[in-house]
Amino acid sequence: MSNIVNYDERVKNFDWSISEKELGYKAGDVINIGWYCSDRICEMGKANKMALLWEGLGGVEKKFTYNDIRLASNTIGTFLRSLGVKNEDRVCLFMDKVPELYIGLIGILKIGAIAQPLFSAFGDESLFVRLDNAETTAIITQKKHLAKIRKILDRMPYLKHIIIVDYDGKYPLREREVAFSLEEATPIEKIDIYPTKAESPSILHYTSGTTGQPKGVKHVHYSLISQYLTTKWVLDNQENDIYWCTADPGWVTGTSYGIIGAFSTGVTQCVLDSGFAAEAWYKFIEKYKVTVWYSAPTAIRSLMKAGDEIIKKYDLSSLRNLASVGEPLNAEAVVWSEKVFGLQFLDSYWQTETGSIMISNYPGMKVKPGSMGKPFPGITATIIDPDTYEPIKEEGKIGLIAIKPGWPSMMRTYWNNEETYKNKFKNGWYLPGDRSTIDKDGYFWFIGRDDDIINTGGHLVSPFEVESALLEHEAVAESAVVSKPDVVNMEVVKAFVTIKAGFTADQDLELNIMNFIRKKLSPLAMPQEIEFIDSLPKTRSGKIMRRILHAKEWGEEIGDTSTLEND
Ligand code: PRX
Repeated sequence: MSNIVNYDERVKNFDWSISEKELGYKAGDVINIGWYCSDRICEMGKANKMALLWEGLGGVEKKFTYNDIRLASNTIGTFLRSLGVKNEDRVCLFMDKVPELYIGLIGILKIGAIAQPLFSAFGDESLFVRLDNAETTAIITQKKHLAKIRKILDRMPYLKHIIIVDYDGKYPLREREVAFSLEEATPIEKIDIYPTKAESPSILHYTSGTTGQPKGVKHVHYSLISQYLTTKWVLDNQENDIYWCTADPGWVTGTSYGIIGAFSTGVTQCVLDSGFAAEAWYKFIEKYKVTVWYSAPTAIRSLMKAGDEIIKKYDLSSLRNLASVGEPLNAEAVVWSEKVFGLQFLDSYWQTETGSIMISNYPGMKVKPGSMGKPFPGITATIIDPDTYEPIKEEGKIGLIAIKPGWPSMMRTYWNNEETYKNKFKNGWYLPGDRSTIDKDGYFWFIGRDDDIINTGGHLVSPFEVESALLEHEAVAESAVVSKPDVVNMEVVKAFVTIKAGFTADQDLELNIMNFIRKKLSPLAMPQEIEFIDSLPKTRSGKIMRRILHAKEWGEEIGDTSTLEND
């Protein structure tokens, strides 16, 4: 039987105290996610249960029991303390999906510091703006990412420690750099876990903003109450499951469900630290006998593209619950997964700010392929009119998704940006910035975002950040960045560029600019196409009208152009 048992009954009888009771937490108690993800599971008699089965490039394997996770996180926490890192200091995790990333986050939380996970493919400028906003004290990284940090070091006087987890002694360490090897360090049996309370800050995740720099989403230790219960009721993790969350902990899914949800429910999880390849993924599922699989539409569409034939080569019969998040999961993907795996992917909707699943499909509830499902028990969600901010009653009408604030894992603010945070609330509702319809049965159907942010393969990219970076290229005079359709990634980045005199708009320049953005920001933010044009469409007041370029890419009606400069 599934953990949720019956969705409608759970909705009727819901109270977050269900989660608090299961976790043995009472209001006012100390609550430390690090302890819940390791020590508590050991105290429940599962010290020798496998917690993490890790596989890296070339099939290298590492295994950690819950006791290993407990000791290793104590060791990392103690090491950070020995450097002088204190509670509420920001400690960035800037690594591939290596065990130190998973365990490091737990260690940081144990000492009451704030974990700031960042996607390791970020280039130096993406890294800098996020570290600078948070005034990060320490960064834990691998030697392969060190060059990016060294490049921006002079601009970061607050960054006191650069901790390298795989230092090999080949080149001398520089100022502020220090080596730490989890394998060579003496395991620390006991650590004084910092007595964090419900509202103590835990994680700072950066997400893209439409008009400004990325925003630091501040979460607190009480978020566990949501993350634990949603993991149990949506992903349905049970005692003997082998769970695989394909997300990178540089993004929120990888922390909320790849670390906190996984370890706090005491499941055995596996991690594959290598890029996407259909056969490698199927092989991984077969080898580890994965039962619960949380992935993303772009990966599912890539698997569809790889064809059904290769699936027959693998025994995937262990799978029993599949879920997806991050971008619209098209109906075809749900129908396909039922055909090839005998299971439908359960779509789930949420975002960095919400900290946990808000709207979802649930084991046992009827799935309508293409729909995101219904609000999680305890979550009041609706759609509201964009002008009046009143709930929409008519069936089929499009409105803004609106959620009643107050669930445990809601962000508490944007770091140093309270004003933008306040703007996310209207008429007593939290607005995630997405549009949807609701059908007569209460199912939500995603329509699109309500801003210019680009969702490429489930990752948000700010056109503003790409445009700012483009301007730093010597040949670029002006630019406008929009999304364009893509079969697998749903959307990719496209840049319209006007160039300065003396440069030639040719393929070499296009490649040069693409590479410039890839290095500076990230491969995700790199435009997949650059169109050189003579002038950008602007309003009479000089504002670039991205809307027109966007409409052109998507073959949509251009709409009102009465304010255009060159009318
Ligand atoms: O636009 C929605 C889209 O991704 C945004 C959140 O992105 P991020 O904060 O990076 O978090 C991603 C993982 C939780 C949302 O505002 N999104 C997320 N899930 C879905 C979705 N769009 C359609 N369907 C979904 N299931």
